[in-house]
Amino acid sequence: MLKKVIHNAHDLIQEAVQEGDTVIDATCGNGHDTLFLSNLVGETGKVLAFDIQEQALTNTAERLQVAKWINTTLIQDSHANMDHYLSNDLKGKVGAAIFNLGYLPKGDKAIITKGNTTIKAIQTLLEYLKINGLINIVIYYGHEGGQEEKDAVLEFVKNLDQKRFSVLRYEFINQQNNPPFLIAIQKRQ
Ligand SMILES: C[S@@+](CC[C@H](N)C(=O)[O-])C[C@H]1O[C@@H](n2cnc3c(N)ncnc32)[C@H](O)[C@@H]1O
Repeated sequence: MLKKVIHNAHDLIQEAVQEGDTVIDATCGNGHDTLFLSNLVGETGKVLAFDIQEQALTNTAERLQVAKWINTTLIQDSHANMDHYLSNDLKGKVGAAIFNLGYLPKGDKAIITKGNTTIKAIQTLLEYLKINGLINIVIYYGHEGGQEEKDAVLEFVKNLDQKRFSVLRYEFINQQNNPPFLIAIQKRQ
C-alpha cells in the first residue's frame, strides 16, 4: 500500500540500520524521529540528535524515556557543524541520518532550516555513511523560505554521482498545499 511519507522514511531506515549502529537525527524538533532511531539501534547503538533551539532539545528530552538516554546524545548546535561531533573512526560507519526540514511544529515559525546549512550537513554525512547507509530528507516547503531551501537541496542531490549514490524522490503528486516529500540517498560505494 502507499505509505505516508514519514512512514516510508522510517521503513527505509529500518531496512538500512542494524542494532549497534550510530545514526543521526539532524533536526530533532519534538523528538519523534530521535525516539524512533533510539529504539532501532538499541543499547549498543548511538544516536546523535541535533537542533539549534533549546525548546526542541527540551521537547526531545521529554519524549525520550530515561532509558533512551543511554544511547542518545542531544546537541544544541547547527547540523552544519556535525563534523565537530563525529570522530574520524566513524567515517564509513554511520548507518543512517534523517532530516525533517522546516520549522518546529507548535514552535517559532521564524526558525527554519536553510539550504546552505542543510547541504553542508548532507555533504558531511555522505562521507560518514556506511555502504548501503541512508540519508532521508523529508522536505516541507510550504512556509516562507521553504521553496528556496527545497530548490537548493534538490539541485544538490540530483547532481550526486550515480555510481556512488542512489537518490530517490517519494512524493504524492495530487495532494494540495505543498505536501512534504522524501528524498532518500543511499550510498552505493
Ligand atoms: C520540522 S522540525 C523537526 C521535527 C522533528 N523531526 C520531530 O520529530 O518533531 C525542524 C527542526 O529543525 C531545526 N533546525 C533549524 N535549523 C537547524 C540547523 N541548522 N541545525 C539543526 N536543526 C535545525 C528547527 O529548530 C526545528 O526544530
